Amino acid sequence: MSSALSLQGLSKRYGALTAVERFSLEVERGTVLGLLGPNGAGKTTLIKMLTTLMKPTEGDAFMEGWSIVTAGRKVRELIGVVPQENNLDRYLTARENLVLHARMHGMAHREYNRRIDELLELTALSGRQNEFPDTFSGGMQRRLVVARALIHQPRILFLDEPTTGLDPQSRRALWEHVRSLRSRMTIFLTTHYMDEADSLCDRIVIMDHGKSLVDGSAAELKAQFAHAHVYELELRRDSDRYEELFRALPAVTSLERDRDLFRIFLKDEESLKLLMNSIMSGDIRKIRTLEPSLEEVFLELTGRTVRE
Ligand SMILES: Nc1ncnc2c1ncn2[C@@H]1O[C@H](COP(=O)(O)OP(=O)(O)OP(=O)(O)O)[C@@H](O)[C@H]1O
Ligand SMILES: [Mg+2]
Repeated sequence: MSSALSLQGLSKRYGALTAVERFSLEVERGTVLGLLGPNGAGKTTLIKMLTTLMKPTEGDAFMEGWSIVTAGRKVRELIGVVPQENNLDRYLTARENLVLHARMHGMAHREYNRRIDELLELTALSGRQNEFPDTFSGGMQRRLVVARALIHQPRILFLDEPTTGLDPQSRRALWEHVRSLRSRMTIFLTTHYMDEADSLCDRIVIMDHGKSLVDGSAAELKAQFAHAHVYELELRRDSDRYEELFRALPAVTSLERDRDLFRIFLKDEESLKLLMNSIMSGDIRKIRTLEPSLEEVFLELTGRTVRE
């Protein structure tokens, strides 16, 4: 069986800048794929090409076998899109925004009215459906854009930072909904929330500078890349003196401190013994291991410097 998504050497150049560079990827049906990367990594550019909003400079991609270059119309029927920026029509009410979208997808009146009622219910917008998007909060607009993307029952759903600006309740509700959809569609999402990627995605791709760096499940990436052994240590006394001492230890690769509480990054597990030997046991109030996180993997791969 062919993949739901097949990216074959996709590139996008903006003048001298290569935003996406020969990107290839196969995604099986029913996967929730999370694409992570720092600001400017090329995520939105990739999604714009896949959703036919922008032509690739080179390469091609196939959505359920249809080319984004030669079969744009067919691709647009198959996909649902939540773009990074809310692009609602401000001169139409919330419901009218949804109706317009349904009509553009050739849905019949009876069919779409029921569907729209369901989606308004799901996104908790039924009570505001006859108001204009400008009178909505940012999070409510986001929920409306998500509802709109789902009306025509797409086979592949693209979500570019779907939960940015949502409150914790709406985020959880959206996660639940994405989980319930995965049996019927393939989902391609970007996010800057590592917990979101961790709990929602079957597969994670981390990209930077237009290229894929790693690809695997959250558990696989953590096992493979979170090399740092991190301990949280709370001292009873002498924290200033200990800080100097810890910083001088070759086994300590990095250190964060908040008064008597230290977060210590060690080179490897064996280094723990060296660290413990340097502390008088009576001076320790508490020590615990911190589990490797996806955030650590992300920082290890993409560095700690903030992008322009
Ligand atoms: N229309 C454009 N013209 C010129 N350069 C662009 C254009 N759109 C994006 N870029 C550049 O392409 C690179 C990738 O941008 P893109 O929006 O794809 O990043 P992103 O990974 O989605 O980032 P973010 O996490 O901030 O949304 C950036 O260097 C950006 O400045
Ligand atoms: Mg983006």
